[in-house]
Amino acid sequence: MQTKKIPLDITKATTSRLAEVDFDNLVFGKYYTDHMMVCDYENGKWNTPKIIPYGPLSVEPSCKAFHYGQAIFEGMKAFKDENGKVWLFRPEENFNRANISCKRMAMPEFPKEYFFEALETLLKLDEAWIKTGDGNSLYIRPFVIASENGVSASPSSTYKFIIICCPAKAYYSSPVKVTIAQKYSRSADGGVGYAKAAGNYGASFYPTNLAKEKGYQQVIWTDASTHQYLEEAGTMNVFFRINNTLITAPTSDRILDGITRKSLIKLAQDQGLQVEIRRITVSELVDAAKNGSLKEMFGAGTAATIAPIEGFEYNGDYYELPEVKDSYSQHLKKSLQDIQYNRAEDKFGWRHEVPLDK
Ligand SMILES: Cc1ncc(COP(=O)(O)O)c(C=O)c1O
Repeated sequence: MQTKKIPLDITKATTSRLAEVDFDNLVFGKYYTDHMMVCDYENGKWNTPKIIPYGPLSVEPSCKAFHYGQAIFEGMKAFKDENGKVWLFRPEENFNRANISCKRMAMPEFPKEYFFEALETLLKLDEAWIKTGDGNSLYIRPFVIASENGVSASPSSTYKFIIICCPAKAYYSSPVKVTIAQKYSRSADGGVGYAKAAGNYGASFYPTNLAKEKGYQQVIWTDASTHQYLEEAGTMNVFFRINNTLITAPTSDRILDGITRKSLIKLAQDQGLQVEIRRITVSELVDAAKNGSLKEMFGAGTAATIAPIEGFEYNGDYYELPEVKDSYSQHLKKSLQDIQYNRAEDKFGWRHEVPLDK
């Protein structure tokens, strides 16, 4: 990818915190790398991006992000191959989606060349935090917040685009049990479900906590008006395998256009699997579970990669999925990770090498 060289304002950390990290017992999100990127938007333009030691921000209590939720984020990963090269997976997709989210939340879009220059420089500085080996990665969290002070309900005139990074291992270790939403909704037609708006996640915590109290780790959201159509899970799109057909809901203004989802669709089609992108109802799923044609269900997202689902609850009944020998989810996960870790041919041009010699 050709991007214009842009200046950065870099202040390096004097000491590294890397030695404090217990990589064998890594708790996701507990440790952040030595540096972060902060870029301020003022007077109608983005200033020079700054790379500075990771640390607290100074904002006033009247900062608009706190009051009106003008805040969006992204989630992406960097992988290190066995030769020490560092790779991002489809980073342009995350960049584009950040700007789609910004637009929906009346926030200014971020310039592409700033994003790539700052991200690559940040990764180069904190490269030692990225470990080789399956499941190991660096989780990258770009986010944008309204930073203007004031309690009038109107868009901020200043913003901060920030990138922080934390080392990650596989997210969910064992298969999850899910419940299907019958009362609450995460998004609605004309709403912000397709954006990675911070409030979408805050709003989902209460119903997810209720599900957890009943022993279900995740909620599968359904359409807000009828609760009949299966949509997506907490931070994952969802796939259903009925007999040998893989089904996933089409994206809409209620569903996040997941990068893992679109990559799995492409990989599955390329491998000759039958894929249907269509609306799927709860009753179709329940029927398939009852007649034994439902073979697999799994969530797909950057953090979890692929999270197999072992069963689902609906209307008070629990449906356990069978054990399958030729698991599509395991197979697709391997194909995806082989590309991400530079172990397989990158047929679709998804890998982006981070230059470590810049
Ligand atoms: C609501 C929601 N759906 C799906 C996904 C999966 O998207 P991706 O594969 O791009 O991580 C995410 C995670 O970003 C999410 O937050």
